[in-house]
Amino acid sequence: MNDTLEAAPIYSRLAEDLVTLINTGQLRPGERLPSVRTLSQQRKVSATTAVAALRALEMRGLVEARPQSGYFVRASASAAPMPAMTRLSTQARRVGIDTVMVRMIEASGDPGIAPLGAATADPACFPAKRLQRSISSTLRRRPRLLVEYALFAAGTDALRHQIARRYAELGCAVREDEIIVTNGCMEALNLALQTLTKPGDTIAIESPCYYGLLQVIQSLGLKALEIATHPGDGLSVDALEEALQRRDKDPIKACLVSANFSNPMGATMPDAQKRRLVELCERHDIPLIEDDIYGDLQHSGSRPRPARAFDKHHSVLLCSSFSKTLAPGARIGWICAGRRAEEIRMRKFATSIATPALLQDTLADILAAGGYERHLLKLRRAFATQVAQVSAAVCAHFPAGTRITRPRGGLLIWVELPRGIDTLALYDQALAEGVNFAPGPLFSPSGRYRNFLRLNCGRTMTPAIDHALMKLGKLMQRAL
Ligand SMILES: Cc1ncc(COP(=O)(O)O)c(C=O)c1O
Repeated sequence: MNDTLEAAPIYSRLAEDLVTLINTGQLRPGERLPSVRTLSQQRKVSATTAVAALRALEMRGLVEARPQSGYFVRASASAAPMPAMTRLSTQARRVGIDTVMVRMIEASGDPGIAPLGAATADPACFPAKRLQRSISSTLRRRPRLLVEYALFAAGTDALRHQIARRYAELGCAVREDEIIVTNGCMEALNLALQTLTKPGDTIAIESPCYYGLLQVIQSLGLKALEIATHPGDGLSVDALEEALQRRDKDPIKACLVSANFSNPMGATMPDAQKRRLVELCERHDIPLIEDDIYGDLQHSGSRPRPARAFDKHHSVLLCSSFSKTLAPGARIGWICAGRRAEEIRMRKFATSIATPALLQDTLADILAAGGYERHLLKLRRAFATQVAQVSAAVCAHFPAGTRITRPRGGLLIWVELPRGIDTLALYDQALAEGVNFAPGPLFSPSGRYRNFLRLNCGRTMTPAIDHALMKLGKLMQRAL
């Protein structure tokens, strides 16, 4: 499991904790930081370590030393304001494939390019050895797994049991027999949309929305209606309600939402809004498809409940996977299909017959052994630190007027730049300089968000990443 943070020098861990306090607004611009003495007493570190942490923050331009007075948070280090709520037209759009997306994903595999594009974590964050051991022991126990045909299987009992158990712990009732194991969350979303819609139908989505989902919508010949979304609180249920009432001629056939730590904004809907959303969709008899792929990745506190937890009628189709949390290469996802389980099971058979049982039981084995929670604790801490670090670097290097989201989970930040900066126009120059990111228009079927971008914070912060963000900031300054 990842021990990058544990291996960092003590002063650097202390510095990162202070960065978090600055980014979350607990230490505001102009405020004095705790003195060297207080820090060393509170954190049980030497005065030299405390001084080293404060100097590291000073070097990064986050704090300034004032003679005889101590260290103070610099005005420019304050967490930038959040982007505004989205404002949208009422037109549903056909979605166009964007070649920039393909280039962005390809560049994400290039070790010479700073990995701020695709939403991927450091491979070192995942328990490779544990997965290897578990694969071997699963095959030893069930030597026929690779030579038997898993015909018409909704998934292995062991994995479906573990998935249902985890939801039960959250107060979200999911029956084992409604779970269909899929090839990643993407297949789950595909199956849901294929089952619930036909070409030409209109689907309500958050705006901005994950580009992969826009690809699914496009490939199925659907139209996307962008619904206003708040950078902190997620999808606006008021805006959805208005759209539902307005659209007699071209009715909304399904609603797709990522209620926890959405991509790209990192927004989380308050429980009351999740409940309202579920009730609204029920009232209008519109299926709600929920993508909860980031739900396990809160930075602190307890895991937010999926919208499905507020669904009394088993009508929400809850999709997720282990791609962001345990084994990105395994491509194991699932859909809790409620009343639609039988239809989705047929559709899964028609699409890919089954998902490899070896990998399913390998992951079930890890979940049953209890090591998963420990692993998640570390992963959440790593993402919290990295989001704070990238946010601080954005504050330090990007032009004045930049706004950033403050996600409470996940590994992404969404950045609004001053008008006049076009992130699509900037993209080629950035790649040429060895910096990847996801330009804003990838997240909208109508090509909006030209002065926005998404940054991946899944990688351990290094001087090279800080330097890449500095280069990006300079390109932006030149574009203004
Ligand atoms: C919101 C969201 N849904 C689905 C996916 C795809 O998940 P998977 O790789 O498990 O298919 C991603 C991947 O980035 C995502 O961000």
